[in-house]
Amino acid sequence: MPFPIQRLRRLRATEAMRSLVRETHLDPAQFILPLFVVPGEGIKREISSMPGNYQMSVDQVVIECAEVQALGIGGVILFGLPETKDEMASGAYDENGIVQRAIRAIRREAPGLLIVTDVCNCEYTSHGHCGYIKDGDVDNDTTLQWLAKSALSHARAGADIVAPSDMMDGRVWAIRQALDVNGFEKVPILAYAAKFASSFYGPFREAADSAPAFGDRRSYQMDPANGREAMLEIALDLQEGADMIMVKPAMPYLDLISQARQRFDVPIAAYQVSGEFSMIMAAARNGWLDHDRAMMESLTSITRAGARIILTYFAKPAARLLA
Ligand code: PBG
Repeated sequence: MPFPIQRLRRLRATEAMRSLVRETHLDPAQFILPLFVVPGEGIKREISSMPGNYQMSVDQVVIECAEVQALGIGGVILFGLPETKDEMASGAYDENGIVQRAIRAIRREAPGLLIVTDVCNCEYTSHGHCGYIKDGDVDNDTTLQWLAKSALSHARAGADIVAPSDMMDGRVWAIRQALDVNGFEKVPILAYAAKFASSFYGPFREAADSAPAFGDRRSYQMDPANGREAMLEIALDLQEGADMIMVKPAMPYLDLISQARQRFDVPIAAYQVSGEFSMIMAAARNGWLDHDRAMMESLTSITRAGARIILTYFAKPAARLLA
């Protein structure tokens, strides 16, 4: 029944009316806040391109986690900057590495807070690539062994969820095997299943000191042009034993979040990456965008597309607005 019988503006007239018919609601429990852990004590260094986000030593991370928990945020995901880097990424799977120490401290001081760990090598290799370099490229199957050891060391330290972000073939299977034979069959895997070789990771690479020293990540991360291949990546990760999957970045790939939501009946996460955050922050600081509205609109759009879980640097300010 078209106009003049139908007038969609009737249900938009007041905030009470809009609130009644709103389809998408945000909840702090759906957010996961990325944290960058550095060696030392008493360190809290703001990341210049990511205002309000810091590189923190373990003692400061613990304080941050108490605040995150008080805000009702779903959890944290940890990234580590090791004391030293080498060709073999040994800091990534060191039982006493920076992330492993942070997990134990958070477990102790903020029990009950969900701890996710990023399983990757790029912060730990001297060359900044995500694995073992052979003939100028990342060697898939050697890298799987490092990833399995890293995930196991995170589980041993007390991680709730391990999240491989390297984009090697077969990593979910390799990690699942390593966890299961060591008695960690209850630890779920959140696979960065459709992770693209994106320009939007720029600020993160400053934050995590993980820019590749040569070349780029296009021989392992996905081509931004490929949507069907993203569905295949997700299907394979689920066959290998992933419990949840992720699309990353989020806003430039909302179509793929939506397709994944229709095709796969598992929890779907999206990573609103550093560049997505920094763009909004920069525009807001210039007075070109309203910070709070742009933040909430971006998070709402990602949720509406179908990602119930959002990894976001906006977790704290968004949770405060929702309180
Ligand atoms: C590690 C990793 C990256 C991000 C998350 N895990 C960087 C990369 O792949 O280069 C990016 C997150 C962000 O930009 O916020 N491989």
